Amino acid sequence: MAQQEEVFKKLISHCKEYGFVFPSSEIYDGLGAVYDYGQNGVELKNNIKKYWWDSMTLLNENVVGIDSAIFMHPTIWKASGHVDAFNDPLIDNKDSKKRYRADVLIEEQIAKYEDKINKETEKAAKRFGEAFDEQKFRETNPRVLENEAKKEALHTRFAKALNDGNLEELRQIIIDEEIVCPVSGTRNWTEVRQFNLMFSTEMGSTADGATKIYLRPETAQGIFVNFLNVQKSGRMKIPFGIAQIGKAFRNEIVARQFIFRMREFEQMEMQFFVRPGEELAWFEKWKQTRMRWHKALGLGDKKYRFHDHDKLAHYANAATDIEFEMPFGFKEVEGIHSRTDFDLSSHEKFSGKRIQFFDPELNQSYVPYVIETSIGVDRMFLSVLAGAYSEEVASTSSATGSSAAEVTAPVAEPVEATRVVLKIPPVLAPVKLAVLPLVKKDGLPEKAREIMDNLKFEYHCQYDEKDSIGKRYRRQDAIGTPYCVTVDHDSLVDNQVTIRYRDTMQQERVPVAQLEQIIAEKLSMKNLLKTI
Ligand code: GAP
Repeated sequence: MAQQEEVFKKLISHCKEYGFVFPSSEIYDGLGAVYDYGQNGVELKNNIKKYWWDSMTLLNENVVGIDSAIFMHPTIWKASGHVDAFNDPLIDNKDSKKRYRADVLIEEQIAKYEDKINKETEKAAKRFGEAFDEQKFRETNPRVLENEAKKEALHTRFAKALNDGNLEELRQIIIDEEIVCPVSGTRNWTEVRQFNLMFSTEMGSTADGATKIYLRPETAQGIFVNFLNVQKSGRMKIPFGIAQIGKAFRNEIVARQFIFRMREFEQMEMQFFVRPGEELAWFEKWKQTRMRWHKALGLGDKKYRFHDHDKLAHYANAATDIEFEMPFGFKEVEGIHSRTDFDLSSHEKFSGKRIQFFDPELNQSYVPYVIETSIGVDRMFLSVLAGAYSEEVASTSSATGSSAAEVTAPVAEPVEATRVVLKIPPVLAPVKLAVLPLVKKDGLPEKAREIMDNLKFEYHCQYDEKDSIGKRYRRQDAIGTPYCVTVDHDSLVDNQVTIRYRDTMQQERVPVAQLEQIIAEKLSMKNLLKTI
């Protein structure tokens, strides 16, 4: 774990050094849990959004998009339940004066039991080698069983306390589990209190009678209040979905772990409206579809898992998270909720407008039920980078062409011991192709520019002529560029270039005329979407 934390720290500084993510307002010492995206970050972010948007609106002819305003009528947040129930239970340590989410402290304690079990199992696996029967070990080892029992008991008690909204019991769990403040190391805790996460501001001048309005904590409500507009103007029939990408704001109590928990972030949400009674079948379908979307990126199937909710949100009758294995453990990246008819019914009540669908097949009107898929762009961004970040001992074997018959005109890799490479799925990579003249004279820059000028209309390309070729490769590895194309003196004669592949570092001599075809396959969004 300590090693993983080290990797996470390196990833954060890598993001800053290479123009992915900067702390907001940095020259004024930053603003808590608010971040800016740099020149490479914004490209990656846009590519993630395109992947999601296209998968929703191109692959599903019954899913359409909207872009609703951030400011909305304040009654919307009363109707949605956010004014009364969008709270986190907070607890303070009296010695360190640090504030924590009580539920997160307990979840971390559960994870500690899990950790102990896994460590015990790993140790035994090493000791017994191939003869190791993991299932049997987990079922019989006394220490594993003891921790499993503790974990289960805590889990059950925690889930009940959450469902009952029992704040005293949450505090008691923290006391009984002897959870200490990570800063002061003491157990000197305050009571647990509820804290509403919505930011508010005022619209209109005070003289006119200003109205208190909220910065939206989710984009979903913008979809619900436009249900009738979209259904009628698009002549949509149930089942159909509305997708939206946009900013959301939450005054998070504990905003840690870089862009994992931010106060201003971006969501990609889709509400899928279905017949009452059919929602759980659709919930299952969207669960599987969304998992395929994640896995199609090739970051490793084992890095994902479902996590069903213990405490259902006030609007849901089924809920699961898709979790990704971040450097700080498996964490939620996306939530999939069966939201019943809660939101539309509530908006009917609060607005006084009829929000129903007449189903010609059933010859009846009803308030549709809703399946929601909700993913944070920033968390997705973090999962891609965490999955892609790799420190490797750089082998120079590719420069000798030992493993590929096609390698005919290698350009030497530097002989540094390690390279940092972001193995970002090529479709999402901020820069797709770097064009590098071997030297900045003898007509090589002109030839390189010619290649760039041909490819730049479709792909984000970078031209670089500074420093040795090896250093330039390393710079491109660090931002995840899947292809580097080197132009040398022979290129002027035979019209061929060396293409160097980021992940394998293999080099291949290819005709300039074939370049586009070679890179197109892996950079094609269409090909990626076909695999979902
Ligand atoms: N409309 C449902 C909804 O908002 P949620 O589970 O609260 O559900 C959905 O949020 C997703 O939004 C999460 O899975 C996460 O990816 C992202 N998200 C939520 N809070 C966030 C925060 N403070 N910072 C970054 N991303 C966040």
